[in-house]
Amino acid sequence: MTRTLRIAPSILSADFSRLGEEVRAVEAAGADLIHFDVMDNHYVPNLTIGPMVCAAVRPHVKIPIDVHLMVAPVDRIIPDFAEAGANLITFHPEAAAHVDRTLQLIRDSGCRAGLVLNPATPLNVLDHVMDRLDVVLLMSVNPGFGGQSFIGSALAKLRAVRARIDAHVAAGGAPIWLEIDGGVKVDNIAAIAAAGADTFVAGSAVFGARDPDGGYHGILARLRGALGEA
Ligand code: DX5
Ligand code: ZN
Repeated sequence: MTRTLRIAPSILSADFSRLGEEVRAVEAAGADLIHFDVMDNHYVPNLTIGPMVCAAVRPHVKIPIDVHLMVAPVDRIIPDFAEAGANLITFHPEAAAHVDRTLQLIRDSGCRAGLVLNPATPLNVLDHVMDRLDVVLLMSVNPGFGGQSFIGSALAKLRAVRARIDAHVAAGGAPIWLEIDGGVKVDNIAAIAAAGADTFVAGSAVFGARDPDGGYHGILARLRGALGEA
């Protein structure tokens, strides 16, 4: 089976003083999505960027912006991100009072919707919402910081979610992306793909490997090469 594979550089590890150039450079190098990490110093112990920065980045690239909300509460901020040009919005079920309602709210705002599962979050949060999901994002680190090591148990979890998605599609359901976030590197991305992921967030691996000319063609080519897509 051939699966479309997507690379989503996380701008958490980009140079925030030159974000426009950074997102243009990863798009030019062939990135498929811009992964946009939103942290509130409440749901996670770190504070990052919000809708105003999303709106500022939006005109610099054509590729979709993949907003990963690590905030609680969730609902209030969704229309702001839709307005700011987000294309996908994912959130953590532990941070939402009414998961089904929040998933509907994201789609009603014109974006694709997804749930994010922390390393210890059980898969049963997916049980009754498969038809409301466009993406499942599995965390392979605990959320809050870039540059952490991949948690190995995420591979078995990926295989389990892949089986659920394949069963859902076989039963007539719409496709659902399976995204992985945390500690993705050139040396483990092939094993992560083999476990079933189709969309790969990479923060420090990409933005820590700038080419001498300031671009990111080298690291994107190495990631795609490891995926067998050189
Ligand atoms: C962590 C964020 C990640 C982070 C990944 O909470 O959700 O998207 O940027 O960074 P790396 O790829 O360095 O693990
Ligand atoms: Zn993320």
